[in-house]
Amino acid sequence: MTLAPAHDELVENLIEAMTWEQKLAQLQIAFRPRLEDAAELVRSGIGAVFWPRSAEATNELQRIAREETPHGIPLLVGLDVIHGQRTTFPVPLAQAASFQPETAETDARISAQEAASGGVNWTFSPMIDVSRDPRWGRVVEGFGEDAYVNAVFGAAKVRGYQGESLRDRDSILACAKHFVAYGQAEGGRDYNTVDVSAQRLRNVYLEPFRLAVDAGVATVMAAFNTVSGRPAHANHFLLTAILKEELGFNGVVVGDAEGVVNLLDHGIAEDLPDALRQSFAAGLDVEMGGNVLTADGGARLRPDDVPLARVDDAVRRVLSLKLALGLFDDPYREPDLEVTAPSRASRQVALTAAEKGLVLLKNESVLPLGPERKRVLLVGPYANSTDHLGAWVQSFAAPAGSLADAIRQECPEWSLAVKEGTGFFEGDASLIADAVADAAGYDAVVVAVGEPSALTGEASSRSDLRLPGAQEELIRAVAETGRPMAVVMFNGRPLVTSAWVNSVPAVLEAWHAGLEGPRAVARALSGSMNPGGRLPMTFPRSSSQVPIYYDHENTGRPATVSGTIDGGTLDVALMGPGNTDDHYTSKYKDLDLGPQFPFGHGLSYTSFEYGGLKVSAPEVSVADLRAGKSVGVEITVRNTGARAGDEVTMVFIRDLIASLAQPIRRLRGFTRTSLQPGEARSLYFELGWNDLGFWDNDGRYVVEDGDFEIHVGGGLDGTAVGELRVRP
Ligand code: BGC
Repeated sequence: MTLAPAHDELVENLIEAMTWEQKLAQLQIAFRPRLEDAAELVRSGIGAVFWPRSAEATNELQRIAREETPHGIPLLVGLDVIHGQRTTFPVPLAQAASFQPETAETDARISAQEAASGGVNWTFSPMIDVSRDPRWGRVVEGFGEDAYVNAVFGAAKVRGYQGESLRDRDSILACAKHFVAYGQAEGGRDYNTVDVSAQRLRNVYLEPFRLAVDAGVATVMAAFNTVSGRPAHANHFLLTAILKEELGFNGVVVGDAEGVVNLLDHGIAEDLPDALRQSFAAGLDVEMGGNVLTADGGARLRPDDVPLARVDDAVRRVLSLKLALGLFDDPYREPDLEVTAPSRASRQVALTAAEKGLVLLKNESVLPLGPERKRVLLVGPYANSTDHLGAWVQSFAAPAGSLADAIRQECPEWSLAVKEGTGFFEGDASLIADAVADAAGYDAVVVAVGEPSALTGEASSRSDLRLPGAQEELIRAVAETGRPMAVVMFNGRPLVTSAWVNSVPAVLEAWHAGLEGPRAVARALSGSMNPGGRLPMTFPRSSSQVPIYYDHENTGRPATVSGTIDGGTLDVALMGPGNTDDHYTSKYKDLDLGPQFPFGHGLSYTSFEYGGLKVSAPEVSVADLRAGKSVGVEITVRNTGARAGDEVTMVFIRDLIASLAQPIRRLRGFTRTSLQPGEARSLYFELGWNDLGFWDNDGRYVVEDGDFEIHVGGGLDGTAVGELRVRP
């Protein structure tokens, strides 16, 4: 999608006619003002507001802007529509677990339709901060640890929000955030310092933004953090040299909430005018907070603080988006058509999305429990909880039900007993004793545990990644009864399960999966659907093992143990288990090697087999790759089990010798295929210039000659390996 032409006549005439103060007023968004205050701000010419909660209230603000301000410039109306407006979809991390970008695209489309009907025309989504540290609460808002997954899902979200044309009445502006490297906050502590090398910045953190810009994202939000000492809000190198000049971004760069004010605490600005001056000079276009003008409309920036051309450029960007949205023609929404509740159809899409994100972490012949009459005991703090919507949910979104109710609805043949209560968080020993006392009387026990969504999201970093409260004790107590059991986890980040995972036969990762999350889980437990999601983030063995991620470099002293798993070769650097007595190697002495569950892990109720890997050519030259030639990779996948199921196929490369140490695997393609029992499908991927190179420390993208391995399969282990030589 292309944004509005930069020099439209209407826009240029306005810029010509506007005063300095009127221009500055367009360059701020008032942060969640009270409605009365919002009306006054709009009267004073402010360019953007947060959504005032209904089509009617928005229309009134738009009317004031159109009719009571000198130039009649309509408003941008922003809101964090992150994973739903009225219909809440799974949290973005759970969407990534689907490994099906359509999941994110349909969430964004429906969210845009619902939000636009109420007058919202700008969402602060998608978040495409790659993060390898689950202590950081905001991992729930993004698409996990891999740059490529974030790039593909972020672009899908942008397409969904912005639709085919911004002029369409159900299109809203997307905002790729947070620019940039916020996911590398030291220690996983929110808002903390980021210090990042040039190559990692470009190969990991910038990669998703590059694709978002290619997808036509209309706005980008600056991050709270510093990058190499300079806060992003005032970082000319990031906002202008990289984002606007190198990536060619011609939309609006918006600040994060009070991010400009925060420059004072960062210790790089002496007062607010100084902070504003540095930010606009660096390339910020809109300040979030409403601090550019004083309460009585005075300018905090003088005309000689920032070059006029820079301010005009920012105003031009803002007005161009308003033009592209069609707001100058009609900024109003029909109150009678405002969507205020999920529809049957949107619920169905939310159910599919929740199902696609379920990850079966472990299953030793327990799941599915089967549809036949079963006596099932459901215990745990999440048995009756309705905390399924997750972080960044709208206060006015339709509420979710509980797992207990969903099981009653989806599995009417079962006789269900429920032992629930938040006392499990508090370590109520009698509750645990009571919960397990009569386990013997049931065919199966389902333990519903989790991490309250209030412990996930912004400003919710955790130092301890285990299930909070006494939930581990509950799991162990149930395991000791020896009854067939399954643990279901509702959470918003990778958790540490090592204290109990070996003593339970089945674990289903359900995440905070939104409005229809509980139904999806009930259907997975009974076998009405077959989970096929995969982990978009590594699950560590211990909180002290982070950051941990699959695409790490080998180091000069990799720790390995030889072994086999499922008949294939085990690459313990990726997979564990076991430790090594090879002393001078990179490892923790007191932990098995590798993660608990690696990136890409996920089981199924059926099984799959791969065969016939073909790489279309043994060699390709750098020049041919640069000219657009690609190499084909073909493989056949077959469902070898007795049930229909989905398989996620991933293509990783390894660049064996390069001038900079390369990751031991790098994901360059994936696809999710639904297969009936016995059905086979041939899959085709292409690897080209963008897949086989990397960004060096001088900011150059290079493809180096040499040998590559191409790993194709259902995850990191047991892959088929092809070879490719890149000639000079
Ligand atoms: C968050 C942003 C969000 C903004 C507006 C900030 O605190 O960091 O992600 O878009 O608030 O609500």
